[in-house]
Amino acid sequence: MAEAMRLDAWDERPVAADPEQSFTLSGRHYSDPAVFGAEKERIFYRSWQYAGHVADLEQPGDYITVSIVDQPVAVVRGRDGVLRGFHNVCRHRAHELLRGRGNLKAVITCPYHAWAYGLDGALRSARNCKNVKGFDKADFSLSPVRVDVALGMVFVNLDPDAVSLAEQAGDMFTDILADLPGVESLRPWRDPAAAAAGGEVRRGGMAFNWKVLCDNCLECYHCEPAHPAFCDLIDMDSYRTTLHGHWSVAKSRLLRGDNAAYPVDEGAPNKLGNFWFLWPNISFGCMPGQASLGVFVIDPVDAETTQTRGDILTVPGQAPDPRRSAYGRGVLWPEDQGICEAVHRGLKSRGYHQGRFIVDEGRSEISEHGVHHFQRLYAQAMGLV
Ligand code: FES
Ligand SMILES: [Fe+2]
Repeated sequence: MAEAMRLDAWDERPVAADPEQSFTLSGRHYSDPAVFGAEKERIFYRSWQYAGHVADLEQPGDYITVSIVDQPVAVVRGRDGVLRGFHNVCRHRAHELLRGRGNLKAVITCPYHAWAYGLDGALRSARNCKNVKGFDKADFSLSPVRVDVALGMVFVNLDPDAVSLAEQAGDMFTDILADLPGVESLRPWRDPAAAAAGGEVRRGGMAFNWKVLCDNCLECYHCEPAHPAFCDLIDMDSYRTTLHGHWSVAKSRLLRGDNAAYPVDEGAPNKLGNFWFLWPNISFGCMPGQASLGVFVIDPVDAETTQTRGDILTVPGQAPDPRRSAYGRGVLWPEDQGICEAVHRGLKSRGYHQGRFIVDEGRSEISEHGVHHFQRLYAQAMGLV
């Protein structure tokens, strides 16, 4: 056993089942374009991905769009009230069909040559097609994508054979509901000033691999050195991460209302700092203060570039607490972004290969078992173990 743990050879060791014995994923998994190609096929084209919120899909004809890495997808509410997902691409010569979100009167019309599809995806009209030999409109319906909804959040999955959202998420949504009563009635906040940008929380083109940010979100070993104000807001002694199938959660409580991050009123409805993570790339978080849930999606652009998107779900009509937003945007996020960029550069260093998870027996507030859980799921999905 001791032999297996020696560090004098740089042979690649798999992410082991036991977090207390395991090495971390090797650096090459964070920058190799071939690895990224396999991740698209094995992870992103097979898992449930956050697409948006039912608040934007209430009326027949309402639609939203999202890209699952490089795969454009649309979700449309039909005349019959059914939500349907489609690959957002015209079956003629591949122009993207819909952009942003909005409402369709009767059909989806392609901007290129004006093929028109019903809201059920069936091709209704294609100019001049009746003069084309053997052309059958039934052969050119939009390609379907699976859709499911949980707590008002809309998810899509490109894999027709994937497990259901309920199976992927287990009882995570029940757990969120237990800690945030009424979460299903929250709605995405749209800053009127940011309406042109869609109002989402969106950051693009950051110079690190998507897994660097996932890893970072899944431990608070770095909180004391990197996030001093966070450790004044949150009672670190209460911070515990538990693991569940394809999700995990870190739960903690408010330390004091008068703290270095942002003030929390005595009567604030939420005193929890809870961060759920759904494999492979979605974090759902609540911070002490007003009742709200942040949905934070970590989207790869390529092997070395990441963007994030998401929604802040609040009580309808209630703006997010500006003091909390200022702390998140102006302090907490820049602290993490700088870390992720520095780690990504380090992962490519010839002086680094694989590290060790700092996982203690009691799974304390600074234990990294949440990162191991994520990397083990990754290793399984990629066929590394
Ligand atoms: S590409 Fe859509 S109609 Fe031609
Ligand atoms: Fe952090």
